[in-house]
Amino acid sequence: MVILQGYGCNNAEVTNRITCPELSARTMTAEAAAALIHHGDNVGFSGFTGAGYPKAIPGALHDAMVAAHTRGDAFRIGLWTGASTAPDADGVLAKAHGVSSRLPYNSDPTMRALINSGEVDYIDAHLSHSAQHMWFGFYGRLDVAVVEVTAILPGGLLVPSSSVGNNKTWLDQAQKVILEVNHWQPRELEGFHDIYYGAALPPHRRPIELTEPMQRIGEPYLRVDPAKVVAVVETDRPDRNSPFSPPDEVSAAIADHVLDFLRHEVRAGRMPADLLPLQSGVGNVANAMLAGLQGSEFTNLTAFTEVIQDGMLDLLDSGTLRTASATSFGLSDAGVRRFMDGIASYKGRILLRSEEISNHPELVRRLGLIAMNGMIEADIYGNVNSTHIMGSAIMNGIGGSGDFARNAFLNFFVTPSTAKDGAISAIVPMVSHVDHTEHDVHVIVTEHGLADLRGTSPQDRAPRIIEHCAHPRFREALQDYFERAWNERPTARHTPHLLGEALSWHQRYLDTGSM
Ligand code: COA
Repeated sequence: MVILQGYGCNNAEVTNRITCPELSARTMTAEAAAALIHHGDNVGFSGFTGAGYPKAIPGALHDAMVAAHTRGDAFRIGLWTGASTAPDADGVLAKAHGVSSRLPYNSDPTMRALINSGEVDYIDAHLSHSAQHMWFGFYGRLDVAVVEVTAILPGGLLVPSSSVGNNKTWLDQAQKVILEVNHWQPRELEGFHDIYYGAALPPHRRPIELTEPMQRIGEPYLRVDPAKVVAVVETDRPDRNSPFSPPDEVSAAIADHVLDFLRHEVRAGRMPADLLPLQSGVGNVANAMLAGLQGSEFTNLTAFTEVIQDGMLDLLDSGTLRTASATSFGLSDAGVRRFMDGIASYKGRILLRSEEISNHPELVRRLGLIAMNGMIEADIYGNVNSTHIMGSAIMNGIGGSGDFARNAFLNFFVTPSTAKDGAISAIVPMVSHVDHTEHDVHVIVTEHGLADLRGTSPQDRAPRIIEHCAHPRFREALQDYFERAWNERPTARHTPHLLGEALSWHQRYLDTGSM
């Protein structure tokens, strides 16, 4: 049952996008709204994978920050989001040197450089944890929420835009709220969202009664207390909309291995013929896996995932995928055009939720997801590094990969077997940073093959990973390391390592440019 509980606005029509007169009266320029944000504030932006982030305030904030720095005044904020945003959000604030801390996920190269130089503190949290850690009080006070919406309705109800992310929490918890109403977002997005307001702090939590990926458990609208809204800014600007490259040979080979394995699982009776709900990470390899499903014998599938990317639209159009639940779109320009052209046909087949629900461990475990995520490197015992380059520099962050992998029915971690034109092996003696431990990782896949680690001991895993996943050029050296570790540590053979040598491959790369 959908219960709409808003706050007090009357019903008079004001503009086609803002039908709450009280909030319409707070419409102002981005510059005036940005002036309500101050040095030292924690600011919660909407935005997830380049969709639904504020388009006007970040630029205005950039200018205000640059002006303040020119005057010799400090102007830096703590920046919280749903996940990655875009060059005109994360990027411009990083360029202004206006960010002191950032959470929970970033893929912007300018922001990444500042994190890696030590200028920005980065709190790399599981996405399902970011909202609750805020309620727990771990992050401090949220001073301002800046949230893009499609429309403002009477009663302080908001039609969300192309992502939901952490918007519910930011709107609830912020002291002040700035709304951006983006006319570029199709007005027909109303009805594509399911916002769950049943979350509570321990010990008052109750089961989340979602048993099917497409089940509605919430409301189609976000709510805001109009008394907290200090500004409304109208925009008309597109999301980031990154292009996808067509699958290359390596991605296609990885996708083939995953598909063969799923067939094997169906034949073994461990999975139904229409599989289990799919979660797929973002990026070109993930898109190749979706492309692999297209044209396969699998039909009537469902997705319970974070991001709807172009490959998912293909699957929905062909009927391979019946429905998709996520927290965000992550489309190319062509994907956006396709979605907008067919928007009526996607209603009821696509649902966007808060990231605390799309990634919720309880739901991931109950639904029994098949989780497919990229990684940087894996070691011969199955530990996975998804976030760090050579042990120290962050790439993006853990995102939802931990939420999904640890609780999925079956998880895959995928990567090309080498990086940097073959100089780096993605399979190493010991990972230089651990995001997913050997206890969480089920199947490792590269273009050369796949290692099924379920039900195996470390001694079983090493030969499987080396033989099936490592690039042939690195296999002998990996096998030699494993055998010497086994022989030289006769009383420590559970997970044998040569500690002086375990990270020597990474050191060699740093010293010589090749592992
Ligand atoms: N050692 C050093 N560098 C490596 C590497 C390795 N083993 N493997 C990859 N890289 C580098 C690549 O060379 C590339 O560098 P560049 O930016 O200088 O070109 C960069 O890392 C990204 O690699 P790429 O092959 O383009 O990877 P991708 O787009 O498939 O992304 C991850 C891979 C791991 C970065 C990405 O999946 C990620 O961020 N994962 C964590 C979050 C996640 O899983 N989210 C999904 C949950 S829903």
